[in-house]
Amino acid sequence: RAARAALTLADYASLARAGMAADIWDFLAGGAGEERTLQANLAAFDRAWLRPRVLAGAVRPSTDTSILGRTWAAPVAVAPMAYHGLAHPDGEVATARGAGSAGVPLVVSTFAGRAFEDIAAAASSPLWLQVYCFRDRSVTRDLIARAESAGFEALVLTVDAPVLGRRLRDLRNDFRLPPGISPANLPFADFSSPGAHARAEFDPALDWSVVEWLRSVSSLPILLKGVLTGTDAERAVESGVDGLVVSNHGGRQLDGATASLEALPEIAAAVAGACPVLLDGGIRRGRDVLASLALGADAVLVGRPVLHGLAVEGTEGVARVLGILIGELADAMTLSGTRSAADTGPDLVHTGERPPA
Ligand code: FNR
Repeated sequence: RAARAALTLADYASLARAGMAADIWDFLAGGAGEERTLQANLAAFDRAWLRPRVLAGAVRPSTDTSILGRTWAAPVAVAPMAYHGLAHPDGEVATARGAGSAGVPLVVSTFAGRAFEDIAAAASSPLWLQVYCFRDRSVTRDLIARAESAGFEALVLTVDAPVLGRRLRDLRNDFRLPPGISPANLPFADFSSPGAHARAEFDPALDWSVVEWLRSVSSLPILLKGVLTGTDAERAVESGVDGLVVSNHGGRQLDGATASLEALPEIAAAVAGACPVLLDGGIRRGRDVLASLALGADAVLVGRPVLHGLAVEGTEGVARVLGILIGELADAMTLSGTRSAADTGPDLVHTGERPPA
């Protein structure tokens, strides 16, 4: 089968695109505005050259990673994304199975298309809940309670979306969710246009007091997703959060925002080990994971490529995409003399348009 020939995440992207309606591809692939940030996320990794350490004896490096008291098979988790049913009829249930077989966590979106209980029943690795805070706090509180009783282990509050970014592809396509795709864990009635829905319901006036509010409704660890500056990272640490995700939402929110990898060193310095720092946006190869670790991340989230695997071959495709990424990471570690995920530092990376002279 075609998927057998897929050796890279880019191969999966091509196969997924070929088998998908154009407007759905645009919704998954697109970003906000001119998509400058979307492109910058990828370009930043292309500018990260690796400076290998030779004769390091790193024959079988370990990708095992410990985050918030759990051990992951690799410093990789699946980023929260709305409506996996757009990629495959089994949706988040298939993604949970695939992530489980790869041994890495899945962050389930507030806009998941399948019930938390069904996702939990299929999962064999940690599940985290991505939280959007609605104007009606009782909706958010109930969502968290439901995820908590289904066994979810952490909350990831998305802080870069007071409103949804202007996704021009979706506006030009007048994109609507196909029939049968809806947020299974929310009580709202009209959700066919994601942009209009979010404008009506998201709380645009969130401030730092939301962290305290989350603490008051849940005992789960709290991570903030969407931090891009050292100043905000310091503020987050002061507010007592349990982790950060350096992210620009895959270029889907503020177009022109800094590339994730470029924001990372400043944030890692500001956090100084006080809590785990994760990064997402543009991870497409194992070496991108290694560069992220070297520049201060404890782990990364991977978004669109997981939906590509899901679209091409369901659970197996998710497992293969994650397996390829983790395999490439292990290779890059071996070839760069890196023994473990913790055995990295900024010396491993030279940033520039060309390799170091
Ligand atoms: C997202 N993302 C996202 N983030 C979030 O906090 N809640 C959400 O519901 C969604 N939904 C969503 C849908 C789709 C189709 C995409 C592509 C992305 C953003 C996501 O968590 C992550 O930040 C980026 O996707 C990471 O970038 P890459 O790996 O896709 O480049």
